[in-house]
Amino acid sequence: MLRIRRFVEGDEETYVKVYNEGFSSEEWWSTVDKPVTITEASNLDYDATFLAEVDGQAVGLIDLKNYGDEFHIENLVVIQDFRRKGIGTKLLNKAVHYSKSKGIKRIRAETPVQNASKFFKKNGFRLIKYAFLVEIQDRTYIEPYLNKRLYFEGDHKYWIPSEKEMHFIRKLGVTIKTITKFKVMVKQL
Ligand SMILES: CC(C)(COP(=O)(O)OP(=O)(O)OC[C@H]1O[C@@H](n2cnc3c(N)ncnc32)[C@H](O)[C@@H]1OP(=O)(O)O)[C@@H](O)C(=O)NCCC(=O)NCCS
Repeated sequence: MLRIRRFVEGDEETYVKVYNEGFSSEEWWSTVDKPVTITEASNLDYDATFLAEVDGQAVGLIDLKNYGDEFHIENLVVIQDFRRKGIGTKLLNKAVHYSKSKGIKRIRAETPVQNASKFFKKNGFRLIKYAFLVEIQDRTYIEPYLNKRLYFEGDHKYWIPSEKEMHFIRKLGVTIKTITKFKVMVKQL
């Protein structure tokens, strides 16, 4: 039986297992992120986390964060053997329900191109723009724009929120290597 429930204290190990097992099967993931630790799971900085359980076994999770007038899906993952059984949709529906209950009218997700965009499209999301995770070795030129036009991700990796910003950064004359291109998708609630 499938059950979606809120993450509570004591779920840290379960969270780590589902997150790391779920994402590590994705080819793109190791270039973008790294496994989560128990310490990180004990200090989650999300507004809500829900776990999906099948017969008591945790198999998926969703993390939501509030950015003013919209909720952002920070992470959504289902362990590979449990995919295509409607669990991702159930987690998403829970997130939609929760967002509505908080008076939020829009929910946003970022997904690597060629990845889960079909899933989001099927669930009523539309593409609004592309965003990029890039590598920039020389930090000198871009320092003034950190947290304005681009966001630090660690080890020379930066998150660039739109094609417009990408164009701007290129004009600064720095060498950029694109690690991953993301689709930014939104659903009106
Ligand atoms: C995206 C993800 C959460 C979907 O979970 P899921 O439980 O498999 O999704 P559902 O079973 O609810 O899928 C609903 C519909 O979405 C579409 N869909 C889901 N996965 C798809 C895929 N890999 N390719 C094409 N369509 C897909 C299908 O139309 C599916 O319906 P169907 O199975 O009847 O055809 C899961 O694939 C996953 O964990 N991916 C890796 C992590 C990730 O990319 N997360 C999103 C960005 S953070």
